[in-house]
Amino acid sequence: MLTPAQRGEDAPLERSLRPRRLAEYIGQDRVKASLGVFIEAAQKRGEPLDHILLYGPPGLGKTTLASIISAEMGVSLRVTSGPAIERQGDLVSILTNLKAGDVLFIDEIHRLNRVVEEVLYPAMEDYAVDIVIGKGPAARTMRINLPKFTLVGATTRLALLTGPLRDRFGAVLRLDFYDPDAMLEIITRSAAILGVPIEEAGGRAVAMRSRGTPRVANRLLKRVRDFAEVHGNGSIDAQVAARALTMLEIDDLGLDDIDRRILLSIVEKFGGGPVGVETLAAATSEETDTIMDVYEPYLIQLGFLQRTPRGRVATRHAYEHLGFPVPASLDTQQRSFLDET
Ligand code: ADE
Repeated sequence: MLTPAQRGEDAPLERSLRPRRLAEYIGQDRVKASLGVFIEAAQKRGEPLDHILLYGPPGLGKTTLASIISAEMGVSLRVTSGPAIERQGDLVSILTNLKAGDVLFIDEIHRLNRVVEEVLYPAMEDYAVDIVIGKGPAARTMRINLPKFTLVGATTRLALLTGPLRDRFGAVLRLDFYDPDAMLEIITRSAAILGVPIEEAGGRAVAMRSRGTPRVANRLLKRVRDFAEVHGNGSIDAQVAARALTMLEIDDLGLDDIDRRILLSIVEKFGGGPVGVETLAAATSEETDTIMDVYEPYLIQLGFLQRTPRGRVATRHAYEHLGFPVPASLDTQQRSFLDET
């Protein structure tokens, strides 16, 4: 449990790269504006914030936003995740230990099991949990009242959430990949915190290859800093950044070895698709979930991959990026797959 005073103090560098207040948070303007209104309104009424669901690809700042919400509201944050809560009792114990106004953050909330999820319904709606005491005919249920708390749920897959759970959130906010200017601003801010000199062109080179994802940007920034210290004068310019990122086998669009294996597999082994994601996972030795949560969203955003009812297909842009000749029949074929939607 982190209190507002503890949060951030003596935090490892990793955490210190995260913004702590909404005003420091770069990008996601739509989400930031909505949250700003919710927070101000709740504070004016002297009430806890309504439950909020954040969704979007990993690394875009869902955990950071939960922490910011608790800091802005001046309350404590309790962090857990769907797979970590195995039994109803685990969740009941977390809930009964919350204080009024506290924020409970459940990451990967789509992975909560159904039995545990049922505890959340009355907790979210009525701030209460019903527990069963005793066994057999003598069993009774007892209602325990909870303090008014705010649940912040995060998921990479909105579609996997059950209707009843989704309906109990007062707001559902989608995080998108960051645009290049926001990425540059984030990288510049992180470099200043890390004490690494960086030129704008160096920052842009890192931004370009960071898949619109701050977590990726901060990781690449540290690797580029290592390279600059060993092979340069410690400062990051465009050339040092490009050389470091080439050494890391990250291409101009931020694609790594696994992205390329996925695309190559569709193109070479499956004639450009359509191919089912399970088959693609087997062919590339990756987890289906990893492909769906981590790799696909960015490849789709680049326009390299499409999801059709019959499976994944590689687009003309993917062929061009890989340096493969585009099959003459590609466009008509893909239109027909998409028409089946
Ligand atoms: N570090 C990681 N994500 C950030 C963001 N959205 N704004 C500022 N710094 C960040």
